[in-house]
Amino acid sequence: MEIRSATVQDVEPMQRLIQHFAQEGLMLPRSDRSLYEHLQCFVVATHEGQLLGTAGLHILWRDLAEIRSLAVHPSAQGQGIGRRIVENLTERAKNLGIAQVLSLTYQTEFFTKLQFATVQKESLPHKIWKDCIHCKKFYHCDEVAMVYYTQTASRIETENALTV
Ligand SMILES: CC(C)(COP(=O)(O)OP(=O)(O)OC[C@H]1O[C@@H](n2cnc3c(N)ncnc32)[C@H](O)[C@@H]1OP(=O)(O)O)[C@@H](O)C(=O)NCCC(=O)NCCS
Repeated sequence: MEIRSATVQDVEPMQRLIQHFAQEGLMLPRSDRSLYEHLQCFVVATHEGQLLGTAGLHILWRDLAEIRSLAVHPSAQGQGIGRRIVENLTERAKNLGIAQVLSLTYQTEFFTKLQFATVQKESLPHKIWKDCIHCKKFYHCDEVAMVYYTQTASRIETENALTV
């Protein structure tokens, strides 16, 4: 199984997978146009040419990125694929110098295992709710906000200290 950047050839199976979970109310649906526009944010997990999972890392601000549309094919769940996708994206955030990675989710036990911590939604910057206005749950959102700290801040401070 490999985790790699998504390509245009992945868009159709990505959309089918996301749509499957969107119908169950677990995530927002995504149009193919939205997937093409944000394709550079996405990674996919594949095995022998089959798409097993996907997710995107969307940069929201200087110190905050969000994992969106995380989906592992029902037949491939429980094998560590979701973990590897999320670890890949948190590593990308760290390399970009972004201190915090957010997930708005119902999968709190999964994200807790990956060192995400629950935060008050009210503590998050208002700009992150921009896309939520398209959600039918906008007025009664019951997703939990969870944040992972990449420790990039301390790394940058250490690097600066070394170069003084
Ligand atoms: C949530 C999801 C991405 C997890 O992917 P996965 O590949 O099945 O998860 P993993 O196998 O990598 O699990 C990693 C750990 O989390 C645990 N875990 C995974 N899903 C869990 C759940 N629903 N409840 C409790 N623990 C869970 C696993 O047991 C594993 O623990 P371990 O490391 O101690 O063995 C997948 O179930 C999924 O696509 N769900 C439907 C869509 C969805 O809800 N997406 C999230 C949107 S934010």
